[in-house]
Amino acid sequence: MAEPPKTTRQNLMVLGIETSCDETAAAIVDGRGQIHANVVLSQIDDHRPYGGVVPEVAARAHLEHLDGLIKSALTQAAVGFDDLDGIAATAGPGLIGGVLVGAVTGKAIALARNLPFIAVNHLEGHALTARLTNDVDFPYLLLLVSGGHCQLLAVTAVGQYQQLGSTIDDAVGEAFDKVAKMLDLGYPGGPALERTALTGDPTAVDLPRPMRGRPGCDFSFSGLKTAVRQRLPATDPGGNWRADMAASFQAAVADCLADRTARAIKIFSANHGSGHRLVVAGGVAANHFLRQRLQSVAEAGGMTWVAPPPALCTDNAAMIAWVGLERLAVGDTDSLDFAPRPRWPLDAASDRKAAG
Ligand code: KG4
Ligand code: ZN
Repeated sequence: MAEPPKTTRQNLMVLGIETSCDETAAAIVDGRGQIHANVVLSQIDDHRPYGGVVPEVAARAHLEHLDGLIKSALTQAAVGFDDLDGIAATAGPGLIGGVLVGAVTGKAIALARNLPFIAVNHLEGHALTARLTNDVDFPYLLLLVSGGHCQLLAVTAVGQYQQLGSTIDDAVGEAFDKVAKMLDLGYPGGPALERTALTGDPTAVDLPRPMRGRPGCDFSFSGLKTAVRQRLPATDPGGNWRADMAASFQAAVADCLADRTARAIKIFSANHGSGHRLVVAGGVAANHFLRQRLQSVAEAGGMTWVAPPPALCTDNAAMIAWVGLERLAVGDTDSLDFAPRPRWPLDAASDRKAAG
């Protein structure tokens, strides 16, 4: 539904709503990139007893807290609904019960206040955050690493993504979470594993580097996860074994991401020229060890590395409001009968190829 631009992005202000997984979030952002409010309520304590996210529990928690969070965001930003130019809500992909709560709430506010509604792809939120935080121009190479995704994409415009590679099995965040569980590091696993690895020896356990050196830019993490399981001691040997395993796993992940990203840099630079940015985004991009490694990879490939601050790598609503702003500025809004999508690839063409 693209229409000609109605106004410049700079003059707009949007409410963003995010409910696709286990964070309930609301944010108010303006088109200059100023974040007036960014409220995130983690459901970690609700899910901890189960060792992972329970979709039904997540959906109920979103329903219970979202209204209050939107109110807090408006209060923090010292604005009312009348000051807003649009409502952006995540409409997929994700746990559909939670997505429905956020999308329906966003539509209801849009209808009641006669405001434009933007149904946002959660992955596009991660993909465009670097434009909010670092003013990055198109085109850029994106490594999107989260709990459900691991992809390399050429980003050429809002809504324009060409997938260069993707995981053929587990997402990288999923592998972090599963390995953390094997090591009894608690939930959520990614940050706990990173902390534990700080005191470990990354060369202590010899683990595989799946896909390293292969043609193309695809990833695989399932074999690495299985290798960790096979190397777990039958009885606790004491000492620093958990930290050593965590550090060895993290080093293997870093090698895999580095190898695949270096290949993607070559392909991207051949198509788009040199001097562009490598943007790393998604929850796993909060990991400092991986950030450093990817920065070196970018520099070796002649690219500048950019990653949003860790708090804007993990799920939040500022990134959703930002997509709303980018799309609203070009008149690309959605009707109130937009149906939320549990699956919603950024590059539909490559998804069709993979499926067919
Ligand atoms: O983007 P995100 O918040 O949610 C999804 O869209 O999936 O990503 C969550 C994922 C989880 O798998 C979490 O363990 C991982 O990001 N993660 C990390 C770190 N912080 C979050 N993985 C490794 N190191 C971290 N510091
Ligand atoms: Zn996410």
